[in-house]
Amino acid sequence: MLFLDTANIKQIKHAEQTGIIQGVTTNPTILLKENIQHETIIKDILQATSGIVFVQTIGETTTEIIEDATVILETFQDKRVALKIPAHLDGIQAIKELKTTYPDVAVLGTAIYATEQNLLAALAGADYVAPYINRMQNNRIDAYNVIAETRKIYDDQKLQTKILAASFKNTGQIIETLSKGAHTVTIPYELLVAMANKELALGAIKQFNKDANTLLREGDQHE
Ligand code: E4P
Repeated sequence: MLFLDTANIKQIKHAEQTGIIQGVTTNPTILLKENIQHETIIKDILQATSGIVFVQTIGETTTEIIEDATVILETFQDKRVALKIPAHLDGIQAIKELKTTYPDVAVLGTAIYATEQNLLAALAGADYVAPYINRMQNNRIDAYNVIAETRKIYDDQKLQTKILAASFKNTGQIIETLSKGAHTVTIPYELLVAMANKELALGAIKQFNKDANTLLREGDQHE
């Protein structure tokens, strides 16, 4: 599984064409960058992808989060809309209550900087958790240890929650995170491109095509 961490429609459409993206994650900061009204941009994203679209709730108390989640679900009326809920204590209570009311709606615990949050979100019934790799590293938190500990606890306790790691600034972080046990990741479009378009690979491809064209030309001359 692989998710795209952007609200840019052009990028989503392009990534969608690869056929390897399972959906899109957003947050208020990502949406703000596109400078398009909230409801409109989410509808555009739903059109641009055939996958799941994670929409983050606004609010800090359990009541505010549940109210906003209800508005999100009623506004979009699309089974592909999933909820992103901040995993502080009020958010964890909101996850538990929302999963009880809407068992079929996918819920992701977000704003995660610690194994403890991953554990509590899983106990509340979150389908996914999004530990923030780059932001943890910026704060001298051992992000890869958080991933390894979380995966061990989930496996040992047979918790069904999936680690959908987020906040990446380079492709090395993505690979290290997955190798430490994350089930999946959400990545910016630029890193999707960077994962495939390695300079060495592009150089080799160019040379192969150059040689193939030379071969064709020589073949023509010998006919
Ligand atoms: C996931 O959806 C997160 O909100 C996002 O990856 C955070 O990324 P940032 O640390 O680059 O803001």
